[in-house]
Amino acid sequence: MPRRYGCLVSQALKIDEQRLQSEIDALALISENPPPVVTRILFSEADTRGRAFVEKLAQDAGLSARQDAAGNIFMRWQGENPNLPAVATGSHIDGIPNAGKLEGVVGVLGAMEAIRALKRSGFKPKRSVEVIVFTSEEPTRFGIGCVGSRLLAGMLSAEKAAALKDRDGRTLEDFRKKAGWNGSLSSVRLPQNCYSGFVELHIEQGPILDQEKIPIGIVERIAAPSALRLELTGVGGHAGGTLMPGRRDALLAGAEIALAVENAALNSGSPDTVATTGVFRIEPGAVNSVPCKAHLEIDLRDTQARTRDAALAQIEQSVPEICERRGVQYELERIATDAPVTCDPRFVDLIAAICSKLNLPFKRMISRAYHDSSFMAQICSTVMIFIPCRNGWSHRPDEYSSPEHIKTGVSVLAHTLASLSSSA
Ligand code: GLV
Ligand code: MN
Repeated sequence: MPRRYGCLVSQALKIDEQRLQSEIDALALISENPPPVVTRILFSEADTRGRAFVEKLAQDAGLSARQDAAGNIFMRWQGENPNLPAVATGSHIDGIPNAGKLEGVVGVLGAMEAIRALKRSGFKPKRSVEVIVFTSEEPTRFGIGCVGSRLLAGMLSAEKAAALKDRDGRTLEDFRKKAGWNGSLSSVRLPQNCYSGFVELHIEQGPILDQEKIPIGIVERIAAPSALRLELTGVGGHAGGTLMPGRRDALLAGAEIALAVENAALNSGSPDTVATTGVFRIEPGAVNSVPCKAHLEIDLRDTQARTRDAALAQIEQSVPEICERRGVQYELERIATDAPVTCDPRFVDLIAAICSKLNLPFKRMISRAYHDSSFMAQICSTVMIFIPCRNGWSHRPDEYSSPEHIKTGVSVLAHTLASLSSSA
């Protein structure tokens, strides 16, 4: 029998927008680059300090914190009946190179403020409420995103995770032991329905809410992402002495492959296919030397797995053709191919009801970015709340949502947590 959710809306719930904004600004200063750039890559010193910053806020808010063997952090507000499965929320605080201060962070610090606001209003949850900070939502270090949530959901095996390597050949296993994330990675996996639900607040990372001036998006589906890694080995040599006909230039093979990636997306038959060659490094990287090696990382997504898979197959067919013609050796690896995700329609309807009671316009929508929600949805009912970001910009330092939009998103999150944590 599907559970029904009462929609709780309280005038007593007040979000402290200034405090939240100052915490967002303070966390933004914990970065590998000077402001306004935020770069917080997994296992960097900034990542470690960012985690400590969040744990201190949790402590001040009276939440108990624990960390699993993959470094996922769980911060719990104990409910009246701690034996019931908890309601979870959260997101990530790691950031790609040259990022802004909001994505991921709004879902973590916003969740903390949502809990503080609920506490101030006198609300007492029946179920516990847990804020999760997921390890490495961003793929920067290991080429694969959502490492923590994949492990939680059993979508990445402990063996594969332990063997993940960064560009310098350092493994997750080496790093996590040094970070003090002890225990076996296989202990990270959570049982099915160990949470009664998961809800993630996030900036849209697309232009729709901003263009249409709608303060809240309710995510019904999350697009299907995939990622490829490609190593190309050609033959280097002197830029003056190596005549053009005999060249086996790894960069040029890579360049042609990057164009084939663009073509595969443009000709997939779906306007929703997007493909990006976001990493392209060459060796030896000297102006007077023919590039002998190239390393490419390719990101390919679609709202439909069918058209995404067809584009993926086309890229995988182009690579050997181009490399053979250019006399370049290749190693091509599929890092991830994830399915699209459907959010729980009961949660979507609940948030729609909350927005209506709060007189907030809202839009049901698709997330084109992937999120830890994509993996939490494998183990429990999941939904996402989006807020507008200026021009849809994200993954860049000028990423911006107004304090008013952030406050509105946190208010909707707080009401959603109140409703979900009150259900029997
Ligand atoms: C998440 O960061 C994504 O790339 O969608
Ligand atoms: Mn991101």
